[in-house]
Amino acid sequence: MSSRPLESPQLADAQVLLDRLLTEHKSGFALPREFQTDPGLYQLDLERIWRRGWLFAGHSCEVKRPGDYVVFDVDTDSIIVMRGDDGVIHALHNTCRHRGMKLCAAASGHVARLVCPYHQWSYSRHGTLLTCGGMDADGDLDRRDFNLRGVHAREVGGLIFVCLADDPIPFDGAGHALGAHLTPQGLERARVAAARSYEVRANWKLVWENNRECWHCEVGHPQYVRANYDTAPIDDAALKREIAAQARATSARLEAHGLVIDHREAGMVPFPMPEQWWSINRTPLIPGWVSESMDGRPVAPLMGAYPTHDVGTLRMRTMPNFWNH
Ligand code: FES
Ligand SMILES: [Fe+2]
Repeated sequence: MSSRPLESPQLADAQVLLDRLLTEHKSGFALPREFQTDPGLYQLDLERIWRRGWLFAGHSCEVKRPGDYVVFDVDTDSIIVMRGDDGVIHALHNTCRHRGMKLCAAASGHVARLVCPYHQWSYSRHGTLLTCGGMDADGDLDRRDFNLRGVHAREVGGLIFVCLADDPIPFDGAGHALGAHLTPQGLERARVAAARSYEVRANWKLVWENNRECWHCEVGHPQYVRANYDTAPIDDAALKREIAAQARATSARLEAHGLVIDHREAGMVPFPMPEQWWSINRTPLIPGWVSESMDGRPVAPLMGAYPTHDVGTLRMRTMPNFWNH
């Protein structure tokens, strides 16, 4: 596993700044600009959140067969996420143990073994050093000491997560909840139909803040507003009754299929919660709507094991780098 120190003395100044900003911060107000712009605070984010947390690294369906891999980059690290010969996902640092060359230059692919392009050391799909150009011939190099460095990896419900920390934070709570909710979705049997990358010239927290508020939705996402209760007033008694009735009706219909509507209020689910880096829920859509389109009608074939299009909407988020609905 990685032996990279979690903290460095250079972060001490950032810690002082962080302490001051948190002391001065008024709860319920926006974060001061330094949280979005200060390089030291950004390094703290990387060390304490990105290098300690479970990061979404790809979909199971992208690495179906043993030897299929995707490369996942975070900060200065590059990670190979590969389906092993045992069918299990293995995550390996994309760094040759000889002179540090990057092993996989492509973003994804399939390999029988990993061969370094520099001096052709070769590794198994699990990161075991197989050949090293004869450098072990005279006995002064033990191949077992030069396997690729591993990274913790988990696969649940068709999603793959990795954690760079030596001792990861617990995954099991997330694994159980995500697994239970995601099973009918059938993500592992899906395909990635299209991918879009958007480079946002902003700190990552600004992107999350945008995700966790829906004041921009009325104008920015009219189709979403038509389908969802997220922007509805949370204190409207008549509306509360409508949502409760809709949730009950949808749950009753879907109970036999193991699907439960477990968010039954207007407004968004609070996230993130202290000590909980993940959350997942199914929530009802507005009556008559089965998709977040302008007319609410189906826009694609049914996924997974869903018996009908009318299953509400499944939402999940994992801190720091994943959400979907
Ligand atoms: S750096 Fe990989 S074989 Fe030399
Ligand atoms: Fe938005």
